[in-house]
Amino acid sequence: MSAVEGRVALVTGASSGIGSATAHALAAAGARLALGSRRGGDLGIEGALGQVCDVRDPGQVDALTAAAVDRFGALDIVVANAGVGAYGDFLSLDPEHLEEMIDTNVKGLLYTVRATLPHLLKSEGADLVVVASIAGQRGPEGEAVYAASKFAQVGFMRSLDHELYRQGVRCSTIAPGGVHTEFAMGRGRSPGDPDLAEMMRPQEIADAVVHCVTRPRTHRVLEATILPMSDDSMN
Ligand SMILES: NC(=O)c1ccc[n+]([C@@H]2O[C@H](COP(=O)([O-])OP(=O)(O)OC[C@H]3O[C@@H](n4cnc5c(N)ncnc54)[C@H](OP(=O)(O)O)[C@@H]3O)[C@@H](O)[C@H]2O)c1
Repeated sequence: MSAVEGRVALVTGASSGIGSATAHALAAAGARLALGSRRGGDLGIEGALGQVCDVRDPGQVDALTAAAVDRFGALDIVVANAGVGAYGDFLSLDPEHLEEMIDTNVKGLLYTVRATLPHLLKSEGADLVVVASIAGQRGPEGEAVYAASKFAQVGFMRSLDHELYRQGVRCSTIAPGGVHTEFAMGRGRSPGDPDLAEMMRPQEIADAVVHCVTRPRTHRVLEATILPMSDDSMN
């Protein structure tokens, strides 16, 4: 039996990219799934609950959480993955993109944890996984607001780990470099970018999420930085 067989997992931002790949990977490992995104949908995963959930709206996050617990009776794994990015020099950044990154990446994460944590605390073995970014560890050029939002995620998770590990909730942060998804398309990336070919695939990040939640309960993965071989940003 897999370590996630029968466990209930809630994934935000599940409609594309890393979130979708993670949902499929967790389903393949036997998890029961609650999936949220603005587009909604269950990705065709048998038995999954798919619901429209904009993480910027705490009411929608509460509603997805309640629907998951109502349907499955528990919550064991939360993958807070919903996120947006827009690149460019700070002063040239569209003010709407500034608001969207902070509201989605920072407040959306806080709302997600606030809604789901009471249920994770009741689980026999709970995992909270956040898909942050290398931008939240390094602060790349042209990504000041995105990096601010991802540093906030990393700081939140580092602090939360102190609070939660003794209570059996493991906090794991995944910090990927470039992944070829819909991310930042038209906002700093474009479909024809040659860089995209060298980026990682969403399944590779999904594998890392599954790795975190399938560790024996004797230890926890706090932060995993995952970079494409072409990326020298840690040098
Ligand atoms: N791609 C990269 O290079 C990269 C690198 C490091 C970290 N990341 C992080 O990985 C995460 C997933 O991104 P991705 O690369 O998979 O990009 P993606 O394909 O654009 O996926 C982003 C997901 O987040 C959802 N989303 C966006 N705003 C939302 C909101 N307000 N409420 C709920 N869901 C929302 C989107 O669905 P809807 O549009 O249907 O809402 C989509 O499912 C993000 O947190 C991103 O910061 C990405």
